[in-house]
Amino acid sequence: MDAFLIRGPSRLAGTVPVSGAKNAALPALAAALLTAQPVGLESVPAVADIRTMQKLLTGMGVSVALSPGGGVSLSAHDVRSTEAPYDLVRTMRASILVLGPLLSRFGEAWVSLPGGCAIGVRPVDLHVKAFEAMGARVAVEKGYIHAHVSRVGTLAGRLQGTTIRFPTVTVTGTENVLLAATLARGTTRIQNAALEPEVVDLARLLRKMGASISGEGTSTVVVEGVERLSGTGSAPHVVVPDRIEAGTYLAAGALTAGDVTVAGARASDLPAFLSALAAAGASVEETESGVRVRRDGPLRPVDLATGPHPGFPTDLQAQFMALMTQAEGTSRIAETIFENRFLHAVELVRLGAGIDVEGHTATVHGPSRLQGAPVTASDLRASAALVLAGLVAEGETLVRRIYHLDRGYSGMEGKLTALGAGVERVSG
Ligand code: EPZ
Repeated sequence: MDAFLIRGPSRLAGTVPVSGAKNAALPALAAALLTAQPVGLESVPAVADIRTMQKLLTGMGVSVALSPGGGVSLSAHDVRSTEAPYDLVRTMRASILVLGPLLSRFGEAWVSLPGGCAIGVRPVDLHVKAFEAMGARVAVEKGYIHAHVSRVGTLAGRLQGTTIRFPTVTVTGTENVLLAATLARGTTRIQNAALEPEVVDLARLLRKMGASISGEGTSTVVVEGVERLSGTGSAPHVVVPDRIEAGTYLAAGALTAGDVTVAGARASDLPAFLSALAAAGASVEETESGVRVRRDGPLRPVDLATGPHPGFPTDLQAQFMALMTQAEGTSRIAETIFENRFLHAVELVRLGAGIDVEGHTATVHGPSRLQGAPVTASDLRASAALVLAGLVAEGETLVRRIYHLDRGYSGMEGKLTALGAGVERVSG
């Protein structure tokens, strides 16, 4: 099992290129199920979750060709199965994103229930309720969500557009309904829709494929169903840059009192995060190549709460907590999206951080002198926080179970080394 061996402290300086967003590429791959014509994507990150989605789709008969430069060409011309099996879904709950397209194009889907995940129960009830409102019959049978649209009566095998109002903002819930609504009969109105840039990117891809969508990026998205979708034609869809990856490296620059530019990052994707970095005493600058963060003075404590976009991203909460361990004072970080997303706190304490967790709030007492030690990653973003802490800890930090990191970061050791960090991948 791979681990990262990190020798600290270090100061990061230089420029790293941002990869395409995993959380935009996953729904984009699922969108290929909606058409028999070829779909081309560019800037798809080489990370484990993408390979999992590739396995899921090829298991259904979709041809998926990944090329080294981040290009992917897909064809769902010969889909022979509408099943997403447990052994794949249990490793990646975003597999639920095939439910909407399968239901909408084929009238049936068998998707394993995702099972638990380190950061909380993470149910899919809002996805299921939305599809039932669109006319699907959904039952849970032997651990699988079996959804189908009856072939008799008015629906004749097609979902029916309707108004879906999400009680809480759900990113993949919004994406799943958006995917399904493109081929549903009539108009679908999604209220309290997620505003994330990845949702906006999916809408742009679907529009290129012939879907009729308006309002993406606002809390009400309207979709007029069409008979069929085309492929992406001659112009592959370029996936948006990964704002969470960008934020991770920018946090590393601020943490190590360095000077880091993430080329290709878009400041407009990270408003709350960048203002929190500035409030902490880093200087944040949008350059023509991307976003640059420098820090040469002391870090100040910052109180914040995560929230749906454009609020502070929950996916950068762990990384910001690592930063706050070096702030001169007490910070309070409230996690409002997931009920168990502080697993990194106890590992940061092992490195010497002063953190108390009380329900949804973590109180960070800084600054603390971090000392290298073996730590264990528990989930994707927690592992990033441990790597960041290792950069400023004195001595060697061994971050174990780095497969969590490999799910969402491509070539992290290379990017950090290029910035001057002492990081190597070892088996540990
Ligand atoms: C997406 O997950 C992201 N994943 C997550 O990123 C991200 O943390 C999350 O959005 C929040 O921004 C992908 O896009 C693939 P939600 P998602 O549905 O869609 C509850 C990463 O690190 N909920 O917006 O699964 C849920 O439990 C990952 O890349 C229900 O109750 O998150 C949570 O408390 C981690 N019922 C809240 O809503 C449902 O049916 C928001 O979840 C769906 C969600």
